[in-house]
Amino acid sequence: DMYGDRQNSLGRDYSQAADREAHARALEGIDREKLTSGPIVGGKLRAGIDAQAVTNPFDRSQVLGHASEAEATDIDAAVEAAANAQVQWDRQGGAKRAVILRAMAEALEADLDRLVALLSREAGKTLNDGVAEVREAADFCRFYALLAERDFTAPQTLKGPTGETNQLILHGRGVFACISPWNFPLAIFTGQIAAALAAGNAVLAKPAEQTPLIAAEAVRLYHKAGLNPDLLALVPGRGETVGATLVTHPGIDGVAFTGGTDTAAAINRSIAARLGAIIPFIAETGGLNGMFIDTTALKEQVIDDVIQSAFGSAGQRCSALRVLYVPKDSADALIAGLKGALAVQTVGDPADPKTDIGPVIDPESRRALEAHVERLSKEAKILARATLPLGAEKGDLFAPTIAEIPTADFLEREVFGPILHIYRYDSADLKSVAGKLAARGYGLTLGVHSRIEAFAAEVIELVPAGNVYVNRSITGAVVGVQPFGGEGLSGTGPKAGGPNSLIRYASEKAISVNI
Ligand code: NAD
Ligand code: ALA
Repeated sequence: DMYGDRQNSLGRDYSQAADREAHARALEGIDREKLTSGPIVGGKLRAGIDAQAVTNPFDRSQVLGHASEAEATDIDAAVEAAANAQVQWDRQGGAKRAVILRAMAEALEADLDRLVALLSREAGKTLNDGVAEVREAADFCRFYALLAERDFTAPQTLKGPTGETNQLILHGRGVFACISPWNFPLAIFTGQIAAALAAGNAVLAKPAEQTPLIAAEAVRLYHKAGLNPDLLALVPGRGETVGATLVTHPGIDGVAFTGGTDTAAAINRSIAARLGAIIPFIAETGGLNGMFIDTTALKEQVIDDVIQSAFGSAGQRCSALRVLYVPKDSADALIAGLKGALAVQTVGDPADPKTDIGPVIDPESRRALEAHVERLSKEAKILARATLPLGAEKGDLFAPTIAEIPTADFLEREVFGPILHIYRYDSADLKSVAGKLAARGYGLTLGVHSRIEAFAAEVIELVPAGNVYVNRSITGAVVGVQPFGGEGLSGTGPKAGGPNSLIRYASEKAISVNI
């Protein structure tokens, strides 16, 4: 490809005994250790007296460790150290920064088993999801290292009048705040930081309140990989308090955010209200993702791809499938197939290699999903729910659900979890049905299953989306292969893991010299 012999990170194969044993040992290790997270400034963790227990979403009686929140004074100290260190980091150029980012990728891979174990315990990730996440984190580091070398090492010379040299230089903006969600607590957390660092910035990183432990591990790995600790501080805590203080701090020169659309809008407003500053805001947010099937689609493939897209990662991916549009003529057969496929999914302990679907992230999320199912049972029709194992109530397992909705505009907003909505449409109404989805204003992922190119082209024309997938699942974008991110209510761009990812993390300077 355009990046020569670039390769994505390799994974594990849990059908092999050796890989399963390594995982079991790592899990024992995580269960024995008592992990700590809190503000990390200048490479030092300040363990606060107010530390809160962090528990396992599958079994709330398991305490994994403790985490304390950053205070305003931690943020002040971190901003000051970061601003000082950033000058040299920016000046030394992309090639030197790439060395550190590649060392970070190696460090992540060397710690893969431990990170996967922690991802299941803290974030409810199945093993395959955990491995994919470590690989994605390493991929982000290596990919942004390439971009740092490509765009931040030497100036671009531009053609101008004779006797004049014209150069364009990309450089860092200063100190970035990186704010991330719990659903990719390692990949997105690490990726945002890697992007900001690659472009020559220093970073204050605020992980989601649900996943402070894995974030502290990632920060320690960055420092172990050789990054000057002043260039990356961890400032954990709640969004409304710590997050809000961070984004309005006068020393912050840019904000990279991934999370909900409403949160992005709130942050955008508070950044805009900062007196005397105009700073970039990069936001990757939610989606109301649809998949359109026509009568030529291959039923078995549709079933596989729908189950994976809607229920993989317990539906807790921004890219996950929310509404499946099936043509009236093939709806009954497809629905029967989907019910059968859901019935054989194993819901349970995410750390068990046999599990397909783990818990949702917290009690609040589980209750919101149950409330939505309640609405569906009154105003729509529940078609199937998966069975939960015995003892499910010790944590936040939620029974994956398939429901049929009566109208094309039934859903107004993203529903974040393993609930698949099906709408039967009349082929003659495709335009109006797709138009109703488009009118919601999101634009993240979109799927089409069809063997007719004109059908796919029409759907792609009608429904806005940053990432379109034809005849495959709509989740699991790979760094450098499917640059990821949405439009409209789904995000500002630039996409993560693509050739333009770093542009808004950077300032451009044009220098014209007459000699
Ligand atoms: P969230 O918006 O609740 O929280 C995201 C982050 O923002 C957290 O760190 C939170 O503490 C922080 N935050 C909350 N309020 C804040 C404030 N006022 N100021 C500053 N920071 C604040 O989202 P979540 O529940 O953690 O994640 C799930 C959401 O993320 C879903 O909507 C999902 O679609 C979206 N998401 C999008 C992408 C993408 O690439 N487009 C990827 C993953 C998740
Ligand atoms: N990048 C993630 C996916 O594509 C969210 O599923």
